Amino acid sequence: MENWLKTVNIRLLREEDLPELEWGGEYKRYRRIYREIYRNSQKGLSIPLIAETAAEGIVGQVFLSQKEPNLNYGIRTRYYFLSSFRVRAEFRDHGVGSLLLQECEKQARLHRIRDIYLNCERTNNRARWFYQEHGFKVVRIDEGTWTYVNDEGFVVTEPENAYLMKKTLSWILFK
Ligand SMILES: CC(C)(COP(=O)(O)OP(=O)(O)OC[C@H]1O[C@@H](n2cnc3c(N)ncnc32)[C@H](O)[C@@H]1OP(=O)(O)O)[C@@H](O)C(=O)NCCC(=O)NCCS
Repeated sequence: MENWLKTVNIRLLREEDLPELEWGGEYKRYRRIYREIYRNSQKGLSIPLIAETAAEGIVGQVFLSQKEPNLNYGIRTRYYFLSSFRVRAEFRDHGVGSLLLQECEKQARLHRIRDIYLNCERTNNRARWFYQEHGFKVVRIDEGTWTYVNDEGFVVTEPENAYLMKKTLSWILFK
């Protein structure tokens, strides 16, 4: 493990972190989503995790949102949906993403939620390999669109062409 990696701290998102999640404007359009995730975390409905170093500040993030069973999808228990997973480019491939994922699984166990789902763009081979290395499996292809309200209050519809991936945590580690 590299020295700087030992100094990476994984913690919950704070309100004052919100501007930094926009990465200097690149993700400004998701401002309202980030705020909603933060608010949901205050109600116990989401777990937004931040990776930071003392020298560099926020270097990565991942959000877990708690979802109720969805019989349309054949999902019978509560589950977490993982989203907005990213590590700043210059910090990738050193283990930060793995640390964030480990903490997600720890949180899921703490909350006795066994299944974690996520969408991975079909063109994002690197991320798919990463998830598969960490035990996620492709469940099906999700094609269509998704809609959100951007920072200016406009409804934006973006195409989606993703693999729905799932990891079921083992029962043994729940004891
Ligand atoms: C996907 C993503 C979050 C992974 O984060 P990361 O910090 O690069 O993840 P890690 O460093 O833990 O693992 C990446 C690779 O680095 C390697 N690695 C891990 N620790 C390492 C270390 N100490 N030294 C060298 N390599 C290491 C691992 O072998 C791993 O390979 P694998 O993918 O075959 O498992 C990151 O690549 C990213 O932000 N990508 C762009 C955004 C994105 O695509 N997000 C996913 C949306 S679905």
